[in-house]
Amino acid sequence: MTQALRKPEPIVTVTEEAPDVSGAEFRRSVLAGLAAAPKTLEAKHFYDARGSKLFDAITELEEYYPTRAEAALLRHHAGAIADFVGAGASLIEFGSGSSVKTRILLDALPDLACYVPIDISGTHLKATAGALARDYAFPVVPLHADYTRDFALPERVPAAGRAGFFPGSTIGNFDRAAAVAFLQGARRLLGDGARFLVGADLQKDEDRLIAAYDDAEGVTATFNLNLLRRINRELDGTFDLAAFRHEARYDAQLGRIEMHLVSRRLQAATVAGQRFDFADGESIHTENSYKYTLESFADLARQGGWRVAAQWRDPEGLFSLHGLVAE
Ligand code: AVJ
Repeated sequence: MTQALRKPEPIVTVTEEAPDVSGAEFRRSVLAGLAAAPKTLEAKHFYDARGSKLFDAITELEEYYPTRAEAALLRHHAGAIADFVGAGASLIEFGSGSSVKTRILLDALPDLACYVPIDISGTHLKATAGALARDYAFPVVPLHADYTRDFALPERVPAAGRAGFFPGSTIGNFDRAAAVAFLQGARRLLGDGARFLVGADLQKDEDRLIAAYDDAEGVTATFNLNLLRRINRELDGTFDLAAFRHEARYDAQLGRIEMHLVSRRLQAATVAGQRFDFADGESIHTENSYKYTLESFADLARQGGWRVAAQWRDPEGLFSLHGLVAE
C-alpha cells in the first residue's frame, strides 16, 4: 500500500551560501570569544553533526518542555496558523534542524509554492531535505547558510507571498539588540507583504526552567561540553573535557537562562596555537536563552519592523507562537 503511494526519489540540491559557513568563521569566533572577559562562545557553534544529534536527544527529555509544548501548540492551532500563512505561500524556515515540528505545519499547508529550510549544519540539512522532498508534493529548496549573517534566497523562491518560520524559541539565543537586528534582517529578506511565524518560550517558574537546561541524565551537559570537543577536533584544541562542568543559571532580571562551562581547576588550554588560562571556577558563557511574555515579545517584534497579528499558546501555556505581518 505505502509502496504504491511513494514518489520516485527526488533530487535535492543544497544551495551553498558560503563555503566556510563553519570553518574560518568558527575559528575567528572561538579565538575572539576565549580572548574576551568574561570568556564566551557563540551558541550557534553547538550544532556540528554530533551537537545536532545531542540537541535532538534534548528535545525528547522529560525536563525539556519547549519542543513538546510547541508541537502541541502547532497541532492545536494548525487551522488558524495555516490561514495566517495563506494559500500558495513560500515557507522559509530559519534553522530547520531535523524539521520534526515543521512537518506538523507542512501537513496543514498542502498547497505551498515551496519550502526552503535554512540550516548551518550541511549534513543534517541534506538528510532532512531529502526526506521532506519524498514526503511532500511541493518543491523543497534547502539552503546551507548561517542565517545570523546576510544571505540571499535562491532565485527560484518567488518574491511575493513569502512566510518565514522561526520556531523553537531559537530567537531566545539573541540578546534584545541582536533579536531586533535579526527581525529587521528577516523583514528585508522576506519583503513587503511577508508574514513571519516566530516561536518564543515563555517566562515561568525558575525551577522548571533550570531543570529544562540541567537534565538528570546529563544530556544537556554533554551537549554543552561537545563545544569544547568540537574545538579540540576542528581547531587543534587541547581542552580536557573532564576539567569543565556544565552549569545552568537563571537571571531573573534579564529573563534569561544562561549555560556555562565552569573550570574545575586552574588550567590552560591551547586553541589553534594560542594559549588561554582559566582560573579555578572561571566560566565560559556558552548560551543565553531568553524567556518572554506575550507583551515583551510583541514589543520586540514591533521594534523589528513587524506588526503582531496573532499570538498562540499551547494548552498548558508554556510556549508561544507569534504571527507577524511586515510593516
Ligand atoms: C535551540 C536555542 C531553542 O535555548 O532552549 C537547549 C538550545 N540549549 N538546551 C534553547 C538549548 C540547551 C535551545 N534553542
